[in-house]
Amino acid sequence: MGSSAAAGGAAAGKIVVERVVRYVSIERGSATLEGTELDLEDAIMGPTGRPYREFPEPAPLASHGPARVIAMVNQKGGVGKTTSTINLAAALAEYGRRVLLVDFDPQGALSAGLGANPHELDLTVYNVLMDRKVNIRDAIQQTGVDGVDLLPANIDLSAAEVQLVNEVAREQVLDRALKSVEDDYDVVLIDCQPSLGLLTVNALTAAHGVIIPLICEFFALRAVALLVETIEKVQDRLNPRLQVDGVLATMYDARTLHSREVISRLVEAFGDKVFETVIKRSIKFADATVAAEPITSYAGNHIGADAYRRLAKELISRGGAP
Ligand SMILES: Nc1ncnc2c1ncn2[C@@H]1O[C@H](COP(=O)(O)OP(=O)(O)OP(=O)(O)O)[C@@H](O)[C@H]1O
Ligand SMILES: [Mg+2]
Repeated sequence: MGSSAAAGGAAAGKIVVERVVRYVSIERGSATLEGTELDLEDAIMGPTGRPYREFPEPAPLASHGPARVIAMVNQKGGVGKTTSTINLAAALAEYGRRVLLVDFDPQGALSAGLGANPHELDLTVYNVLMDRKVNIRDAIQQTGVDGVDLLPANIDLSAAEVQLVNEVAREQVLDRALKSVEDDYDVVLIDCQPSLGLLTVNALTAAHGVIIPLICEFFALRAVALLVETIEKVQDRLNPRLQVDGVLATMYDARTLHSREVISRLVEAFGDKVFETVIKRSIKFADATVAAEPITSYAGNHIGADAYRRLAKELISRGGAP
């Protein structure tokens, strides 16, 4: 082997080692290492079976709006919808995108996760939906994250599902409300509740795209068929522009064959719609929630923060966000 080839080999080796080092993190100051031999494999061949690659750094935007609206939907609970909404928003904002977050879950986890006190909210998305005299701008709040605003929710929203049933064009109420602020933002992310009821249909009707966060467990796959059916119905009847932007595998554990098998099934079913970016399981996400911060600021160097930055870049490079 010539010396230049040897040097090339050494350089490639260095890149791999650097990537592996990034995958190894020390959790909570203890000695739990996330890096494993399988992570080494992921560093070369991504977990979705495509070669690992970096996505280009997004170019700054010269102007803002009109927003692309994305609904974060899965009727299964606890799959990472809210966590992905907060962290994707924070990562998009790091790239200069203006983001509006819509809490569309009466549990108000997104609002709480950004430090809003559910009992101290004067105006919420509920008032915006139910009372046409309420200006959406009066309900929108700034958050502690630069570039990210919030339309909050609290338990009041649980009444909307029933009250909306008698409204004219009941599926289009959120869409109408968002129209007046679409020029202020580049991206609107709607954090849906775990149900396929009227609120979620409103979110799908207002959206250009859907991101489906999906926990890497077999029982989670079953929910997806019904979800896809609902998306297709909304496309047919209410919102022909709606598309699936991507399926996001969350709480992935490289050490288990189980996680890997779930991802192969997902890729079989959804092909390239599965984001190459996969979110690993880490306790840091719960810690960040307790601190009411996105992981990108709570633990900016953690692999979880990097993963959501990579997701933001992947979404932008796919045309899912400006
Ligand atoms: N990658 C991850 N690794 C470990 N824990 C995570 C991860 N993502 C989210 N979690 C935790 O899993 C739990 C559920 O996450 P999250 O609230 O984002 O799900 P959800 O789909 O919004 O749930 P719901 O359907 O109830 O609204 C939370 O406690 C969160 O901190
Ligand atoms: Mg949630």
